[in-house]
Amino acid sequence: MIIWKVIYRLAVYCSLSLIVFSFFTNTAAASCLTGACHQELQSFTRLHEPVAEGECLSCHESVAKEHPLKKGKSFKLVAAGAALCVECHDSFDPNVGKLHPAVADGECLVCHNPHGGNKTGLLRAAGDLKVICFECHNAEPFAQQFVHGPAAAGVCLECHMPHQSKHKNLLISDSKSLCLRCHADLVAGLENSAVIHAPINNSDCSACHEVHGGAFAHLLKADGPKLCFSCHEELADKYKKSKTKHTALYKDDRCGNCHSPHFSEYASLLSELESETCLRCHGKDDFKRSRALRNIRTEIAGKEHLHAPLADGKCSACHDPHGSDFYRLLVNAYPENFYAPYRKGTYAFCLDCHEENLLRFPETSIYTSFRDGKHNLHYTHVADSRKGRTCRACHQAHASNGPKLVNEEGASFGNWRIPLHLELTETGGSCSPGCHRRISYDRENPVTER
Ligand code: HEC
Ligand code: HEC
Ligand code: HEC
Ligand code: HEC
Ligand code: HEC
Ligand code: HEC
Ligand code: HEC
Ligand code: HEC
Ligand code: HEC
Ligand code: HEC
Ligand code: HEC
Ligand code: HEC
Ligand code: HEC
Repeated sequence: MIIWKVIYRLAVYCSLSLIVFSFFTNTAAASCLTGACHQELQSFTRLHEPVAEGECLSCHESVAKEHPLKKGKSFKLVAAGAALCVECHDSFDPNVGKLHPAVADGECLVCHNPHGGNKTGLLRAAGDLKVICFECHNAEPFAQQFVHGPAAAGVCLECHMPHQSKHKNLLISDSKSLCLRCHADLVAGLENSAVIHAPINNSDCSACHEVHGGAFAHLLKADGPKLCFSCHEELADKYKKSKTKHTALYKDDRCGNCHSPHFSEYASLLSELESETCLRCHGKDDFKRSRALRNIRTEIAGKEHLHAPLADGKCSACHDPHGSDFYRLLVNAYPENFYAPYRKGTYAFCLDCHEENLLRFPETSIYTSFRDGKHNLHYTHVADSRKGRTCRACHQAHASNGPKLVNEEGASFGNWRIPLHLELTETGGSCSPGCHRRISYDRENPVTER
């Protein structure tokens, strides 16, 4: 390094001596830099080569015999704007890509000093390129609360070409690969993940991120859910208007509590398997709850029978994680109270998946196995106009050790859990619940004459 510096100094010294030397030979040029005149040109650590060579007249021509003239100009430029520069430099080929308007307008001198500079590129601003850019461009994004590292450092040229580019916005490469050049940690994820968020494939990172600076953390274009709603409009309504709101959307990382924004191994961009995503919160005893919600992980752990959709890991088959108008975020109507006589619609949630006529007829030989002869015992228990009981009186929503999702320990009734003691036979069964004596039912040989 030092050797190069010495050589460089020598070179500058030589060229200056050359100028001094040419004072005696080439009167016009040499005299310009010496004596009391134009010595300021030598304050640059790097001179534009023709200046270093003393070839002032390659750009300036004398318009008066006397120099300097008392009034008016004694020198004029041999050409104006870019034309002056392209006398020696190649002009920019408009076919190579879009020109920076400042270049197209021949404003070379806004950025370059024709005589010299203190670094490469003859740039006007001593060290801080962005000072030049901000003469024409809005500096505001760069003064926001969150500024992108390289933008804050003012290294515009890490991302932009100064003159022209075949990429939009004068970028040095297409926008996405530009970002990934530095954010290399995302590359593997984008290449190998099962699910990539569509906007990353279809557009680029700036669909969600500010590139220079912005008002929100992680340079996001909008705050939390608002960003997501700008494309997922249908969820905005749910978010605002649902009668049952899911607290998970309104605190901490909000949408990010469950979703990854970029890519994921799991369906729906979830950060884990769906059931695991839910149980991360609903499987903890110390989970902060305003109401005592059950710990679902312990509720289902080791149980013999899982309700089929849950066995598939799909909590969302029954619960809408984004909000719903029904009890416990269920996807359709299901009564909150223990007593809720069947009427059309009241059990729509269960009947969306199960036999829709389950509760319609007092007598049936096809719609349910819970019958004594033709006598529909589901109807008896649930459709009773005064004390119709909810399904939860007998069935567990998630899992059970007993068959038919009927748990030995039974449903909550106030602080007590009603034991059911269901026993099934080939053609029927019997229960001795906390509600009545053991009663049997038999589909083929009805037990009770009614
Ligand atoms: C590559 C072309 C070029 C060369 C070579 C050049 N000049 Fe200039 N010079 C210019 C331009 C262009 C301007 C107008 C500057 C502006 O508008 O900022 C200028 C302006 C000037 C001015 C007016 C004051 C100023 O700095 O703006 C002086 C004096 C001057 N040049 C002296 C010289 C001398 C002396 C040399 C030779 C040592 C020289 N120039 C070589 C292009 C050149
Ligand atoms: C008389 C010929 C000539 C003219 C006119 C000329 N240049 Fe140059 N310029 C050169 C030479 C020679 C070099 C050094 C070799 C190279 O880098 O191409 C150079 C180098 C440069 C460099 C690189 C300097 C560095 O330190 O990296 C820039 C920038 C530049 N010129 C800009 C301009 C601009 C802007 C104009 C018009 C105002 C202009 N030149 C006019 C001859 C000229
Ligand atoms: C918006 C500012 C800006 C304008 C306008 C501009 N340049 Fe440049 N120019 C730069 C920057 C920045 C560099 C790179 C400096 C570096 O590499 O450090 C550069 C570099 C150069 C170089 C050095 C070789 C190269 O291409 O890297 C030349 C020659 C040059 N410019 C000529 C011109 C000419 C001629 C014009 C007018 C037609 C012009 N520039 C207009 C900013 C500008
Ligand atoms: C002489 C004024 C001027 C200077 C100085 C200037 N620009 Fe520009 N630039 C323009 C104009 C005019 C436009 C077109 C209108 C706009 O987008 O603001 C433009 C557009 C751009 C664009 C968008 C191009 C596109 O394809 O849409 C980028 C990027 C840009 N400039 C970067 C820079 C950078 C980086 C600097 C500093 C090295 C700089 N500009 C300095 C005048 C300038
Ligand atoms: C990390 C890369 C990066 C850096 C550093 C960067 N830019 Fe940009 N810039 C971009 C990208 C990407 C776009 C396109 C934005 C879009 O698609 O919305 C852009 C767009 C622009 C535009 C045109 C659109 C607009 O916002 O007006 C200008 C002008 C611009 N940049 C100027 C600058 C200046 C000046 C600097 C340095 C102070 C700079 N940029 C630094 C990546 C960068
Ligand atoms: C020149 C390298 C470089 C390029 C190119 C670049 N970045 Fe960055 N980016 C950084 C650095 C450095 C940081 C700060 C890292 C840190 O603080 O951990 C950063 C931070 C970020 C952050 C904020 C991280 C946080 O959690 O606050 C986002 C978002 C980001 N970049 C997005 C982008 C996007 C989008 C692009 C493409 C337009 C891009 N980056 C291009 C270097 C780069
Ligand atoms: C659909 C919107 C969206 C798109 C598109 C997007 N991001 Fe992000 N990005 C986010 C969100 C939301 C966060 C905040 C995540 C969090 O809270 O941890 C983020 C965070 C980041 C971070 C900081 C945290 C981290 O994971 O390191 C970086 C860096 C980043 N994004 C880069 C990129 C790059 C590069 C691209 C383009 C390849 C991109 N983003 C595309 C939404 C997006
Ligand atoms: C720029 C638009 C845009 C933004 C912003 C956006 N998305 Fe998306 N998102 C899409 C598109 C397009 C799809 C794919 C089409 C579809 O399935 O609706 C998608 C799909 C999804 C999917 C389903 C993925 C799958 O493969 O099943 C989820 C989950 C998702 N986005 C979550 C989010 C979250 C969370 C945010 C906020 C951090 C967000 N999106 C922001 C455009 C966007
Ligand atoms: C509690 C976890 C959780 C939270 C928080 C969450 N989601 Fe989801 N999201 C899911 C699950 C599970 C699925 C897949 C099942 C489904 O489609 O309902 C999903 C699916 C999606 C889908 C694709 C299917 C559809 O419904 O369009 C989008 C888009 C989506 N979420 C966006 C968001 C947005 C935006 C937010 C923040 C407002 C958010 N999510 C918050 C769990 C969550
Ligand atoms: C980030 C933690 C978190 C995650 C992940 C999460 N939840 Fe929740 N959930 C909560 C909180 C907090 C409540 C409200 C607890 C309260 O009010 O006592 C809640 C409430 C509920 C409720 C009862 C709603 C009501 O008001 O009646 C259901 C049902 C529910 N969540 C299901 C799910 C499902 C299904 C998933 C997975 C798709 C899930 N949760 C993922 C935090 C979470
Ligand atoms: C087949 C439908 C179904 C599936 C699948 C399902 N649930 Fe439920 N869940 C319900 C029903 C119905 C209730 C209301 C139970 C009641 O009070 O009778 C409920 C209640 C809840 C409650 C509220 C508990 C309380 O204390 O009131 C939470 C939390 C919950 N479920 C989480 C989950 C999670 C997490 C998953 C996935 C691991 C899941 N559910 C899967 C049907 C389902
Ligand atoms: C998303 C669809 C879905 C919803 C909603 C649903 N189930 Fe199921 N349920 C199933 C599937 C699938 C099975 C296993 C196949 C079958 O036996 O029908 C099943 C099985 C059962 C069984 C065991 C049947 C057997 O033969 O072992 C009972 C009992 C049951 N569900 C009750 C309910 C009750 C009560 C509700 C409402 C609180 C409900 N289900 C809501 C899908 C659902
Ligand atoms: C009084 C207890 C009780 C109530 C209340 C009850 N069930 Fe059942 N359910 C049973 C018994 C017992 C069986 C098993 C019948 C058999 O296979 O012998 C059963 C079976 C089922 C089955 C399996 C298919 C069938 O019909 O045999 C479904 C589905 C079902 N019940 C859904 C529901 C729904 C939905 C509700 C609420 C609307 C409900 N049950 C209320 C006791 C009850």
